[in-house]
Amino acid sequence: MKITVVGAGAVGATTADNLVRRNIAEEIVLLDIKEGFAEGKAQDMMQTAALLGFESHIKGVTNDYQATSGSSVAVITSGLPRKPGMTREELIGTNAGIVKSVVENLIKHSPDIIILIVSNPMDTMTYLALKASGLPKNRIIGMGGALDSARFKYQISDKLNASANDLNAIVIGGHGDTTMIPLIKHATWNSVKVDSFLTEEEEDEIVKKTMVGGATLTALIGTSAWYAPGAAAAAMVESIVKNQNKLFTASVFLEGEYGQEDINIGVPVIINNKGWDRIVPMELSDKEQALFKASADAVRKMNDVLYT
Ligand code: NAI
Repeated sequence: MKITVVGAGAVGATTADNLVRRNIAEEIVLLDIKEGFAEGKAQDMMQTAALLGFESHIKGVTNDYQATSGSSVAVITSGLPRKPGMTREELIGTNAGIVKSVVENLIKHSPDIIILIVSNPMDTMTYLALKASGLPKNRIIGMGGALDSARFKYQISDKLNASANDLNAIVIGGHGDTTMIPLIKHATWNSVKVDSFLTEEEEDEIVKKTMVGGATLTALIGTSAWYAPGAAAAAMVESIVKNQNKLFTASVFLEGEYGQEDINIGVPVIINNKGWDRIVPMELSDKEQALFKASADAVRKMNDVLYT
């Protein structure tokens, strides 16, 4: 089993580090365009093997796609990250060119590959990857909702002083500060609805803090986050590689589900060795349905920037 991570920057290296520690693949290839960069990061990670006890082998390469050949899964993190004050959408032009060429190179060497897109604006990059690659829709998955849902659980756990592991809570919609939809009315603490412990104001506060979760970190750190994004991508890859059938919100191609078509946007899906296997339907309230429609409209507007 071989896994490729493209982009050895903050998110790519953290994804690779999480994967290597999970010991789920014999080989991980870390690829970056910057000379020597991925080689250095990979060697640093390999030097933790004797300390952490993993058997996976990680190899860094500079733009050498031959080395990725025969990969089952790839995670694409190459591209520019956000700077303070920037939206994910402002990255579109540069990242589109990068994502398209990376996808083409990966498929050339691994025709059966499943691709996880992380680069922003993620929903549009995932749609572009699907259209440009011609791969079956199930083999192109966008990572954003898994991260946003983890951030949502963090905000709820912080407010309730509860373990994030006891929470069930998801964010659907686009992966953007104004497009994501934290489904607070569906969230549970074990099987008890969290709204029974919260005032309306507290619910609003949790939702708002979740939506600006990424921007808050960008303002604090000076660039976008990497620990939670890397952990989210690795968890999704593990569900593919180990055929775990875990449920994640992921950006997938809709053909009428949730009232939308010809768009990649975050909905709950089952992830296994087919990629995303099936979409999980949810009963949304009128308000949630309206928010989802508005979110899809915003994502579609972003897609139009590329396709008009
Ligand atoms: P970074 O700048 O630390 O790393 C990006 C890496 O990509 C650099 O090392 C660069 O040399 C490499 N790169 C650029 N062009 C390349 C190419 N053509 N081929 C191979 N490598 C190439 O950025 P960071 O923080 O790792 O973020 C990466 C991307 O992920 C950004 O677009 C960011 O906005 C996005 N992101 C998405 C999240 C999500 O939830 N979907 C969460 C966090 C970041």
